[in-house]
Amino acid sequence: MLTPRRVIVAPSVLSANPLFFGRDVEAVERAGADWHHVDVMDGHFVPNLTFGPPLIKELKKVSKIPLDVHIMVSNPDDVAMSYIEAGADLLVFHIEAAKDAKKLVQTIRSKGIMVGVALNPATPIESVYEVAPLVDVIMVMSVHPGFGGQSFIENAVVRVKTLHDWLVAKKMDGKVRIEVDGGINEETGRLVVEAGASILVAGTFVYKARDQGQAISILKSMPSCNAK
Ligand code: DX5
Ligand code: ZN
Repeated sequence: MLTPRRVIVAPSVLSANPLFFGRDVEAVERAGADWHHVDVMDGHFVPNLTFGPPLIKELKKVSKIPLDVHIMVSNPDDVAMSYIEAGADLLVFHIEAAKDAKKLVQTIRSKGIMVGVALNPATPIESVYEVAPLVDVIMVMSVHPGFGGQSFIENAVVRVKTLHDWLVAKKMDGKVRIEVDGGINEETGRLVVEAGASILVAGTFVYKARDQGQAISILKSMPSCNAK
């Protein structure tokens, strides 16, 4: 299901104007976005509250591109199914929050969509090693989740490199993609792509760009170290 090797750009709809949501998400599609990144926040796992299944269901009806749904919730095991039913094409949950990550990965997978696990900045990379062979995506957070527009945490670069080296050593780099979320722009995007990332979430950098098409193509054209 994943396109091989080229960097995938997933603008975060969190940066759309909620009063002009449809207009704004359509604009990034036209500008060349690969996926919509949809940040679900429950006001508990993170100190902010955003969207739920009803918005995702409506977005799914009009979107021409896949929905990358990132659930920042305390109870992913309980609510994952409602996001699958709403239309997620990739569902990413936090490893810190899952009661039984392996079972949850298998449940999501069994519904025929892609699955990912996310790591907060302070969570050891090794926490995902057990489920890594079962997932499509591992998301390295480069900000503390909760809000768009934060500054990139530099340490994320070495974390991506550590994870990428491990995936290469385990011969999983062709199957599992690394996604990076938070503070991505031309400079930070380049650093994480060089370190092994191949999916870039970008809220502010794309949505607030004067030329969204240019912002997206800058990120898309980064030479991936995965490129064959
Ligand atoms: C942060 C969210 C991010 C955020 C990215 O909790 O998960 O997806 O919207 O926004 P920028 O690119 O502005 O940091
Ligand atoms: Zn996100």
